[in-house]
Amino acid sequence: MIQIAIDGPSGAGKSTVAKAVAKKLGIIYVDTGALYRTVGYYVRSKDVDPKDADAVAALLPEIRVELKYESGTQIVCLNGENLGDRIRTPEMSMYASAVSAIPAVRAFLLETQRKIARENSVIMDGRDIGTVILPDADVKIFLTASDECRATRRRDELVAKGIATTYEEVLADMRKRDSDDRNRAVAPAVAAPDATVLDNSWMTPEESTDAVIRLVREKTGN
Ligand code: DC
Repeated sequence: MIQIAIDGPSGAGKSTVAKAVAKKLGIIYVDTGALYRTVGYYVRSKDVDPKDADAVAALLPEIRVELKYESGTQIVCLNGENLGDRIRTPEMSMYASAVSAIPAVRAFLLETQRKIARENSVIMDGRDIGTVILPDADVKIFLTASDECRATRRRDELVAKGIATTYEEVLADMRKRDSDDRNRAVAPAVAAPDATVLDNSWMTPEESTDAVIRLVREKTGN
């Protein structure tokens, strides 16, 4: 069993790299941001302010979030329904970030994440995997890139999904969200002291993947 933690800000390519590494190593890729997005989606559907900690906490007993795998692809279900790309909009990014600052939400999603890592070899991406969720992970990486590179990547991703947006809009949203995630009181999005920081601003996805694989081999000796 192996546990690989990949944390870092949005648009650093965590999911692209983690998916490729999972495939190469034959392990499971866990996208933990999808869990926060799913809670955010439910909060939005109930017209509740995602910053209202008490109101959001009061909704949690109504929410069942399940992580499933279909032909190696992660599916997150909200009360039995697969929300697909509905959780991938810029609005849901903001909702996810807002609800993720609420301690009750983090506590609610903790066991789902730890359970999957207890039962499978995983590469898990998020913001607090190396610091809180898997503090004993075999390999911890903090993947980052310049704001400009990350905003360009995120814009291209959204446009490919048919979501109309501009570079300036994405850059502003991204900076706000990263600053909120980094400065929150609970599980802030910072590198674990024992994480390797990898800046992939000028790397292709393949080069980033190779760099991570090299680190995994170095740390685990295989
Ligand atoms: O990785 P993502 O962009 O899908 O994450 C959406 C938001 O969820 C992100 O802005 C902060 C929050 N998040 C978190 O707090 N902890 C995680 N492990 C993953 C995501």
